[in-house]
Amino acid sequence: MEKTNVAIVGLGTVGSGVARLLLDHGDRTARHAGRTLWLRKAVVRDLEKAAERMELPAGVLTDSIDDVINDPEITVVAQLIGGLEPARTIMLRLMESGKDIVTANKALLAEHGPELFDRARQLGRSIAFEASVAGGIPIIANISQCLSANQILSLEGILNGTSNFIVSQMDEYGASYDDVVRKAQELGYAEADPAMDVDGTDAAQKLAILAHLAFGATVDWNDIPKIGIDGLDPADLRYARQLGYRIKLLAVANLSDDGLELSVSPTLIKIGTPLAEVRDAYNAIRAIGDAVGPVFYHGLGAGQMPTASAVVADLIDTAVGRTKLTFQTLEYFSSDNPPRVLLRDAESLRGRFYLRLHVANHPGTLAAIAAVLEKHAISIASVIQHESESSGRNLDLVPLVIMTHEASEGAASKATSEIESLKSVTGGVTRLRVKD
Ligand code: HSE
Repeated sequence: MEKTNVAIVGLGTVGSGVARLLLDHGDRTARHAGRTLWLRKAVVRDLEKAAERMELPAGVLTDSIDDVINDPEITVVAQLIGGLEPARTIMLRLMESGKDIVTANKALLAEHGPELFDRARQLGRSIAFEASVAGGIPIIANISQCLSANQILSLEGILNGTSNFIVSQMDEYGASYDDVVRKAQELGYAEADPAMDVDGTDAAQKLAILAHLAFGATVDWNDIPKIGIDGLDPADLRYARQLGYRIKLLAVANLSDDGLELSVSPTLIKIGTPLAEVRDAYNAIRAIGDAVGPVFYHGLGAGQMPTASAVVADLIDTAVGRTKLTFQTLEYFSSDNPPRVLLRDAESLRGRFYLRLHVANHPGTLAAIAAVLEKHAISIASVIQHESESSGRNLDLVPLVIMTHEASEGAASKATSEIESLKSVTGGVTRLRVKD
């Protein structure tokens, strides 16, 4: 049987999962690839630590990238180190020495996609990146190949497993934020720096990649308006549940005549709808294509083996030659292609809103807030105000929750600032989007 020699660069959580699949299930990969995928080298920074993590056949482990670069028999490399540098330089050097690349590093692609993809094309190489978005869900292949007869109209997704794990555990078990972040790290879901998971960066980087594939938009992920779950108050999870919603970190890309809306934000999603029921480290994406209609993808978006599953599928596709065909045809991230869509002005977006604030429990408070909302043509759909626990004291502060009917983001944002400046309102207003 023919053999393709493969190397892994980075033997962390995902890298060791990839090595496991290649070593323990060589027969399976050979059957699917029509050739053996032979793990020839695994490059690590610390040989001792790597040897403790897993046992590899003699001669595979090395701490020198040159052992891969200078070996012409290695043709495909799973580049699985995170961060921007040295990941970028290593990827360029590997491609310059004739290797095709498979990667899970979405930050690198979101930041340096055009440079890396242009260079790959110049060199006649390919980059496969299924594992970079939504872990085990084959969303890259689905959008760029399986749905290629469609104009995608909408993508709505839960793209960060760590955030979803945190929010689910807080919501269902009342777990504390810090405890769940730690657990997500132990389970191998979180990025090396979990701040990127919880502040919306990771989801925005994944959304930038999906928006490019689905809409031809070359977006700097920094330009995507994003709010993370790091500031989420457990009270919001409770109020949302009372109102019939769960809060999820939702990434949205919607195409309309006015352009493409892109955002990442904690959003109230109606209980019983598929996205609201996505729990723990699961990811999900609801896509709408103009021919196919709505399709829904659900699966583990983080963790060792789900991500390794996507990497090994890419190794097989690359060894067989499928990646190169797709890569050449689709011209991903070409700097020659002008963006095909305009980004929509966020102020003009419309939707319902959840507002939570603390107000003085005295006459006229609700009327003053209602007057601000009326001034901005925002209609109130429902209100929750429970009696203060120390009842009888008129000047107590009480939490007030307002659900609005549909309004523009611009009007909601102006109304929020005006409400915050009312004398009877203490502190800031929490404003979240609502999706029915
Ligand atoms: N840290 C990511 C997540 C997994 O929690 O979704 C890798 O993309």
